[in-house]
Order: sequence, then structure tokens, then C-alpha cells
Amino acid sequence: MNLILLGAPGAGKGTQAEAITRALGIPQISTGDLIRAAIREQTPLGREFQSYANAGALVPDGLVNRIVEDRLSQPDCNGGFLLDGFPRTLAQAEWLTGALAAAGRRIDRVLLVEVDDAVILERITGRRSDPETGRVYHVTFDPPPADVAARLVQRPDDTEAVLTKRLREYHEKTNQVVPYYERLGLLSRIDGLGSVPEVRQRVLGALGVEHRTGG
Ligand code: AP5
Repeated sequence: MNLILLGAPGAGKGTQAEAITRALGIPQISTGDLIRAAIREQTPLGREFQSYANAGALVPDGLVNRIVEDRLSQPDCNGGFLLDGFPRTLAQAEWLTGALAAAGRRIDRVLLVEVDDAVILERITGRRSDPETGRVYHVTFDPPPADVAARLVQRPDDTEAVLTKRLREYHEKTNQVVPYYERLGLLSRIDGLGSVPEVRQRVLGALGVEHRTGG
């Protein structure tokens, strides 16, 4: 299955992506993660990404499309993929439709995880991740074990000030992607409020797959 996970910053896309990729055996392609990896490695593209991402602005479409095109061409995507955080503009969505069609592929379903802005602030400012494993925690909703707590880090764009800009970008640009997929009959809306397992059940239910525990 070729899937897209849409939703505001902190809606829980990354958290739910884990369950989907485990259930379906497909790779997660998070443009945010790819962008942060390029920044960490200080590649020429990474240096260009840095000023956008740290300020909460979207990276220009052409640059993001290039990294997605490169990632989708890798063999592990042949049996399906989950795009997380892409597309985020109408231009990215139209480019993706064309690029997949040229390769004889198409998107099967788009899941939109919906959460009120009021909830997002709490989720974003409490998020911490483990630089050793990449595991994401929340100081209140998904607290880390004591032995890893000291090494956890906070993303530079997870401050209240940068979040305001990220939410503005989301409402102005990414919201236009929703009617695009609605018109194509591909969109499923998921209520993102509630606990992680509750949302997981809705997400997997929308895909018609059973929840497998463990792993
Ligand atoms: P990106 O990394 O994609 O960030 P985002 O969309 O803002 O999403 P997040 O990763 O912040 O949130 P999430 O929905 O994955 O939430 P999570 O599951 O972690 O993008 C970062 C930047 O890269 C952008 O600003 C832009 O500059 C650039 N970029 C990326 N893609 C781009 C594109 N296509 N075009 C242009 N630029 C692009 O959950 C958040 C927290 O809440 C966690 O702590 C989690 O534990 C907790 N949580 C999750 N679910 C629940 C729940 N149900 N109950 C309680 N807590 C929960």
C-alpha cells in the first residue's frame, strides 16, 4: 500500500507511523527526519534546510521533492511506503501524483490526523527524543525510563515561538492539500484526540488492518 499521513505539527504522525509500518511491513518516509539528518550531517542541502526548519518555515518545494524522489526510488519502497509530512503544499501534492504516475504507481489512501491547536502546544513542548535510538517520548504522556531520561534532547523547532510559525504554515499551505485528496476520493479523517493506543486503533481501523502488539 502507498500511503500518506497528513496532520498538523505534533498531531501524532510519527507516533502512529510506527504502528502502520509495523502492521503493513512498509517503510516510513518522514521528510522532517530526512531534513534533520541532512542538517546533522551538514551536507550542502542540509545547510540550506537549516534556516527554514529551525525557523518553522517550509523548505522550498523543489528541494523537498528531490529528496522524496530519491527516497522513493530505493528498492525498499517497491512494495509500498508511508509518506509522513509530505506533501505539505498543493504543488508538492501535484508533483507527487505526476512522479508516481510516471513510474506506474499511485497513492492508495491518505490519512489526516486531526487535533485542535490547543492540544498541540502541550504535545510539542513536552516532546523529547533519544539521540541514540531515535525513540520519541513525551514528558507527561509517554515518559521515558529513568536510565535514558538524562540523554534526551528537544528539537530546536519545538518551542512555543517556532510552533506558532509552523502552525501558520500548516493552516495556510498544508490545508490546501486536504481538499485535493478529498476530491480524488482518497482521504480518511482520523480523530487524533485521545491516548496513543486509542488513536492507533482508529488509524489501523481506517486501513482495515489488525493491530499487532510487540516488535
Ligand atoms: P516534521 O518533522 O514533519 O514536523 P511536523 O509536521 O511539524 O510534525 P512533528 O514531527 O512535529 O509532529 P508529529 O505529528 O510527527 O507528532 P509526534 O508523533 O512526534 O517537519 C519539521 C520541519 O521540516 C518543517 O517545519 C519544515 O521546515 C521541514 N519540512 C518537513 N517536511 C516538509 C515538506 N514536505 N515541505 C517543506 N518543508 C518540510 O507527537 C508529538 C508529541 O506528542 C510526542 O512527544 C508524542 O509522544 C506525543 N503524542 C503523540 N500522540 C499522542 C497522543 N495521542 N496523546 C498524547 N501524546 C501524544
